[in-house]
Amino acid sequence: MTVLSRFEKKVIIVTGGGSGIGQAVVRRLVAEGGIVTAVDVNEDGLKAGAKQAENIAVAGGRYSFMVGSVSSEESVKKIVQDVVDQEGRLDALINVAGILRSKKTTETSLEEFMEPINVNLIGTFLFCREALPHLTKTKGNIVNTASTSAQYGHPYMAGYAASKGGVEAMTKALAREYMKEGVRVNAVAPGGINTPLKEGQNDRMGGLDVSLFSHLVRPDYVCGEPDDVASVFAMLASADGSFMTGEIVKVDGGVHN
Ligand SMILES: NC(=O)c1ccc[n+]([C@@H]2O[C@H](COP(=O)([O-])OP(=O)(O)OC[C@H]3O[C@@H](n4cnc5c(N)ncnc54)[C@H](O)[C@@H]3O)[C@@H](O)[C@H]2O)c1
Repeated sequence: MTVLSRFEKKVIIVTGGGSGIGQAVVRRLVAEGGIVTAVDVNEDGLKAGAKQAENIAVAGGRYSFMVGSVSSEESVKKIVQDVVDQEGRLDALINVAGILRSKKTTETSLEEFMEPINVNLIGTFLFCREALPHLTKTKGNIVNTASTSAQYGHPYMAGYAASKGGVEAMTKALAREYMKEGVRVNAVAPGGINTPLKEGQNDRMGGLDVSLFSHLVRPDYVCGEPDDVASVFAMLASADGSFMTGEIVKVDGGVHN
């Protein structure tokens, strides 16, 4: 097997690095030599990631973490500045942090609708805004996290789907805005992936009409693993994705086709 070192000497921030897909992305980047700072509100998850990273770091790969919320403007400003002060540069930003809420729309309060918007959309915006001045210097790139929930309109997730639709639109807008400055901006849209977020969703399905999720009732439905999507995040963030910008790459085992 060829060992890749696509992130040697590359400084990368990964939000949501304390669990699921974000943790898998961190493992992948560190294993390929990346200097990775994971950001999350889940400190235990970030510490667990440190143990995983220790064993796989090659080619100068390094892992550190910062605890903070992606929805806090002050916290996001400080985290990005601290990483740049410590490492001297920023080559990539990977926005994975997210939350999922699902409920019948008529029973959803405005506050509940706004929860995923505040984390998934506003958090992604804040990190992009703070990182872009540094990424223009390195001709770096951003990979955001969308979802098939936006593209296919999964029911009972009005706020979540809207947040991810917003991430898709913002990804395309930023890609165009920063094209001349050599910064690429793409997004991955995962389908169902086995993570705590997905388990929480399964737990909340009681009382909801599962048959409305047309992909879930397909006989050939498959749920992926975090590593199945981490490889695509890594490709987009690396030089292998150098001719791609403004793309939303669906990774769902084909179940939404
Ligand atoms: N698992 C799936 O089926 C699936 C499908 C499509 C999209 N996604 C998206 O993938 C991303 C990762 O999800 P996952 O499945 O790995 O879930 P997860 O719950 O395992 O991980 C999400 C991480 O985000 C962190 N987080 C939540 N709010 C935060 C905040 N305010 N600030 C900082 N960190 C915060 C959590 O603590 C957690 O560690 C999310 O954006 C999610 O919407 C997941």
